[in-house]
Amino acid sequence: MKIAAKEVNADGYGLMGLTLYDKVQSDEHKLEAMKTAVEQGANFWNTGVFYGGVGPGIDPEANLALLKKYFERYPEDFDKICLSVKGAVNISNFQPDSSKENICRDMEITFKYLPKKQLDMYTISRVDSKLGVEAAVRNVLPYIQDGSVKSYCLSEAGSESIRKAHAIYPVAAVEVEFSLFALDVVDAGVFKTCAELGIPVIAYAPLGQGMLTGKVDSNSLPENDIRKNWDRFQTEVYEKNKGLVDLISQIATKNSVTNAQVALQWVRAQSSKNKDYPEIIILPGSSNAARVKENFTHISLPDEDIKQLDDFVTSFKRAGGRYNAHADANLLQ
Ligand SMILES: NC(=O)c1ccc[n+]([C@@H]2O[C@H](COP(=O)([O-])OP(=O)(O)OC[C@H]3O[C@@H](n4cnc5c(N)ncnc54)[C@H](OP(=O)(O)O)[C@@H]3O)[C@@H](O)[C@H]2O)c1
Repeated sequence: MKIAAKEVNADGYGLMGLTLYDKVQSDEHKLEAMKTAVEQGANFWNTGVFYGGVGPGIDPEANLALLKKYFERYPEDFDKICLSVKGAVNISNFQPDSSKENICRDMEITFKYLPKKQLDMYTISRVDSKLGVEAAVRNVLPYIQDGSVKSYCLSEAGSESIRKAHAIYPVAAVEVEFSLFALDVVDAGVFKTCAELGIPVIAYAPLGQGMLTGKVDSNSLPENDIRKNWDRFQTEVYEKNKGLVDLISQIATKNSVTNAQVALQWVRAQSSKNKDYPEIIILPGSSNAARVKENFTHISLPDEDIKQLDDFVTSFKRAGGRYNAHADANLLQ
């Protein structure tokens, strides 16, 4: 599919965890993972002006700084990659902020780190309900009109917001959490709306922020990991949802593949299986070259296993929210 006049593959790569989760590995290790993503054909990349994290002594722009290093080393990749930068958040209180001033600030930050004053996609992280989505789009438009930004995306937007925004200027993509663990966007009608309007969906966290791999749970996360705040990684909630991880592990073992490959293949297959689903770009993240390679190695699963997963998620009543009560209030607005 084409986004911002670039041919984009259905495998994308999320950069957030490189700085927000991984506080241990060297930049060299991360740059190797990033290069592997390109080599594997994952040419839709997603970063954010605050993906370094927030808090005392933390640089919110660290993810962009790492990306700058990447493009300094591999300048030829800048044109190969379709880059989305997420913003429109007030980093002092982490609430949606699509004001003209905040978006202007995002642009100034972004262009400090890119080799050219050229951004494929600006992503509005959350709908700013106080301001309204139409005003948010109008605040992005000057950058599209002057050619510095090629397109925009809405993250965690509901159907009504998508329609309102699209009526002002075509939405290039909608980014939402979508995985075996999170089918909220389907239930909320977002997939149907996107399919009808011809808008591709960026399926973020297709590994359930690591949970579906069977290797990330409440006990394995370091104390300072942001995911410690999310419901899914609270021990009692994790235990209630563990049946899903167990089923994925069982199918992975039976087919001699990994949990991550099962979870990603299930997401990849959804668009062609369901007529009222949009085109989907998967957006897994990993800071490890071998795991990046594993994630972009496509597998096939027997129909009976796919059916078992489909049946499970159809009746699955997830315990807990996707993040926590505070953060979930801004989802699918
Ligand atoms: N729009 C939004 O609100 C939003 C929110 C969250 C994320 N996102 C986007 O989505 C991207 C991906 O999300 P995410 O990183 O939160 O979740 P994810 O891709 O579902 O999971 C990433 C986690 O899984 C681990 N992992 C990856 N591949 C693995 C494998 N093969 N085996 C074992 N573990 C594996 C990673 O650890 P290692 O690094 O150690 O491999 C990391 O802990 C982000 O980078 C970001 O661009 C968007």
